[in-house]
Parts: sequence; C-alpha cells; structure tokens
Amino acid sequence: MKITIVGTGYVGLVTGTTFAEIGHEVLCIDNDEKKIQKLMRLEMPIYEEGLEDMVKRNFNAGRLRFSTSIKEGTEFATVIFIAVGTPPGYKGEANMSYVERVGREVAENMKSYRLLVEKSTVIVNTNQQLKRTMNKYLEDDIPFDVASNPEFLREGTAIKDAFHPDRIVVGVESQRASKLLREIYEPIVKKSNCEYLEMNIASAELTKHAANSFLAMKISFINAVSRICEMTGADIKQVAHGIGLDGRIGKSFLYAGVGYGGSCFPKDVDAFIRMGDELGYSLNVLKEVQKININQREHMMRKLQHELWVLEDKVIAVLGLAFKPGTDDVRESPALYFVPQLIERKAKLRLWDPIAKEKFSELHPGLSYFDTPLECCQEADAVLILTEWPEVKELNLKKLKEVLKVPIVIDGRNVFEPTDMQKHGFIYKCVGREPVGLPDKK
Ligand code: UDX
Ligand code: UDX
Repeated sequence: MKITIVGTGYVGLVTGTTFAEIGHEVLCIDNDEKKIQKLMRLEMPIYEEGLEDMVKRNFNAGRLRFSTSIKEGTEFATVIFIAVGTPPGYKGEANMSYVERVGREVAENMKSYRLLVEKSTVIVNTNQQLKRTMNKYLEDDIPFDVASNPEFLREGTAIKDAFHPDRIVVGVESQRASKLLREIYEPIVKKSNCEYLEMNIASAELTKHAANSFLAMKISFINAVSRICEMTGADIKQVAHGIGLDGRIGKSFLYAGVGYGGSCFPKDVDAFIRMGDELGYSLNVLKEVQKININQREHMMRKLQHELWVLEDKVIAVLGLAFKPGTDDVRESPALYFVPQLIERKAKLRLWDPIAKEKFSELHPGLSYFDTPLECCQEADAVLILTEWPEVKELNLKKLKEVLKVPIVIDGRNVFEPTDMQKHGFIYKCVGREPVGLPDKK
C-alpha cells in the first residue's frame, strides 16, 4: 500500500522505514529541508541502531522516498500518518499547532478520500479538532477519515519495538479506516503475533498518555522508595527485585536513578496534568510524579555538593549526556539539568558521551568533550554518571581510580556495586544503596 508519513523525526522516520521494510511504498515528508536533503544523501539525521541499513535498503529498493512537500504527500497516498512533534506549549500544554497545520494543508490539497492518522502523541479528542479544521479548509465535499494510532516505540530499541510490539492500538470510527489500517499492519501482526486493538478514537488517544504517565509513575515510585532505602539501610535493587517478581507489578521500569528524561515522559505527564485540570479533574498523583522526578536530580546534586563541599574550580567529569543509552537524543536529559547548574557554580567540566556529544555540544558549545570515559576522568575531583552506557559499565575500576585526582564517584544510574567500589577505595554515592555484605566468618 502507498503510505505518506508527515514528520520525519525519531518516530516518523522509524515508522516510515518499518512500513517500507514490510513491503509498503512510503513517502516521508518533513518541512526541515536540511533533514530531507541529508536523508536523500542517505545520511541519518538521528542515531537509532539498525536504522541506517534499513533506510538504505528500502531507499535503494525504491520503497522509501523523501520530500518536503505535503502537497506531494497528499497526492501520493490515501493514508497519511502525522508524526510531527507535539512539543510543550508556553504553559506546558502540548503544542498542537504542527498537527493542525498538517491537517489544514492536507485538506487544501486533497482531491479524493484520505485517511489522516495521528501518530504523534496528542491530547484526547484532538481528532475532533482535526476534523473541524479539515472541514473548514476542504474546498469540496470530499470524504475523509481521521484515526489514532499511538506510537509506543522506545528510542534505542525502536526498530525491535516496531517489529515486535507488545500491542498495536488503533482508534477508528469507520469501516473504511479500519480496513486500511488493518491492511497496513497485517504483516507485523502476523509475524509478531501481537494483539491488534481496535477502539474508538478517544480511547486510543488516551491510551498513549495513560501508558506514558503510568510508566513515569512507576519510575517515580521506585525513586521515592530509593529515598526511604537511603534513610533505612535497605537496598533499592533488592527491594525492586523483591517487588518486581510479583507478576501484578512486573520487573521492568523499576530502575531507580536520577529521574526520567526524554522527549516523551516529561512532556506527556505535563500535558496529561494540564488536560485533567482543564477538564476539572486534578491528576494529583501525576503532579507528585513530576515533583519526585525533579527532586531526584536536586538530591543527586546535593550528594555531589556534600562530597566536594565547594564546587568552584573543581574538575567534574560528566559521563553520559543522552537521556538514556542507545540514542543521541538529549531532550530533557539529566545532563541538561546538571551541566548549567555546575557551570553556574563555577565547576570545571569535562564531558563524555559516545553518541550524543554532537547534539549536546550544539546546546553547550565551548565545553570540553572527550572521546573515552577514561580520558574524560583525567585529574577529575569527581565523576558524575548520568547515563548507563556500556562503556561506563565496563570501566576498569583500577584504571579509573588511577586517573582521578580524588576517587569520588556520584552515580545517578546505579551502574556499579557499592561494595566493589568501596573495596577499590572509591567514595561512591549512588541511588538507594550503600555497601553491603555479611560479616566475615570467624
Ligand atoms: C514524536 C511525536 O511526534 C511526539 O508527539 C511524541 O510525543 C514524541 O515523538 P519525535 O519524532 O521524537 O516526536 O520528534 P522529532 O524528532 O522532533 O520529529 C518531528 C519532526 O516533524 C521533525 O523532523 C520536524 O522537522 C517535523 N515537522 C515539525 C514537520 O515536518 N512539520 C511541522 O510543521 C513541524
Ligand atoms: C518512552 C516509552 O517507553 C515509549 O513507549 C514511548 O513511545 C516513548 O516514551 P523513551 O522515552 O524512548 O520511551 O525511553 P524509555 O526507555 O521509556 O525511558 C525514558 C526515561 O526513563 C529515560 O530517561 C530512562 O533513563 C528513564 N528510566 C526508565 C528510569 O529512570 N528507570 C526505569 O526503570 C526506566
């Protein structure tokens, strides 16, 4: 089937390429000309494992093309996915202006039936607004449908998630839309045997916000428990394991740390709260989730400050700038909180990240970036771990201690075992854990 995707970012590019890989003919549109030119030269605007090969393969097979023209996209396919960003507006609400613009432009250019599918995370009932807009800008009485098909891809594992989703959620209100979307997803459903859930559009839209908010809540919950661990001598890893084995709770998303970041959780929790407030129902539970998340970062900063007393002129090695491993995305990354704070306190920064260095340095030019974690840690007064990259996990502790001026490690991702670190002579502060061990047998 022919498919147009509008918005060729982390979600749109992965989705479009996946559709091409399963045999559809895909046209990816973006209004960022530089991005489209790059893609036409088969250079990737983002890092996602496995994406480059898949883009090249499908481009060369003629199943994947790129353009900046929504007019061309509207003419090309009956089904048009919207995957443009929905960044926070000035009050924290989701900014729907890009989604609205796509709706308007599609309506102005369509000559026959089109199905517009919201893939971007939108607030519930955006479909109603989209329909109203389209009706206003349509010249003739051309039929169209709107549908919702929220995206659950995680950056870093997006390709795997796309081919093996836990479920596919589709919100439709006509047989025609239902049939088109089933046809698009049939190869993935067959291959992965995942559940294909068809529901009304509002439910599909809400499913995405509710899923992301629930996951953020799980992280904030475990972070809150980690604080109690720090006050009582309990160990958060053991507690998380202990509760995670209960099938009703589940093991995943129970890693305590420096708090969640990324382009989704912070923005979606915020937008969900605003929506509740507007509807007259205060989602206080999510307000607390946000507070815990911010507090977790402040708490980590206090740990660093406590160990160094004065931060001015101290050399701090920051390991990890991406919001999580496996991506070059720095949106809402913990490093974007710590780096400005440390600059303000006149610390001297040395920064390392294997992939996100470039994107981070666009926001913070003029800082010192290094190629390996060990180089970054040379003569540092303290190390601050903000992303659990494999290169950090695999650090040789003996060498690390040798290159540091003072062996202080503040670990926001619980990468190392406290007992190990203590044995190696580090002052090691992580999240919800202290060195443990049973007394030696006499
Ligand atoms: C996606 C979803 O769209 C968002 O709703 C979700 O919450 C997070 O994931 P993402 O793909 O990560 O966003 O965003 P980004 O990488 O910024 O991609 C959006 C793309 O849309 C950009 O390439 C941007 O240039 C493009 N865009 C934006 C348009 O083509 N037209 C516009 O009017 C606005
Ligand atoms: C998330 C959702 O998982 C995905 O379904 C949705 O489509 C987009 O938003 P993503 O933002 O790519 O995906 O990353 P995710 O793996 O969910 O991690 C988000 C943040 O939470 C990261 O900063 C990560 O470090 C943090 N996190 C995650 C924790 O602190 N602890 C955990 O146990 C899990």
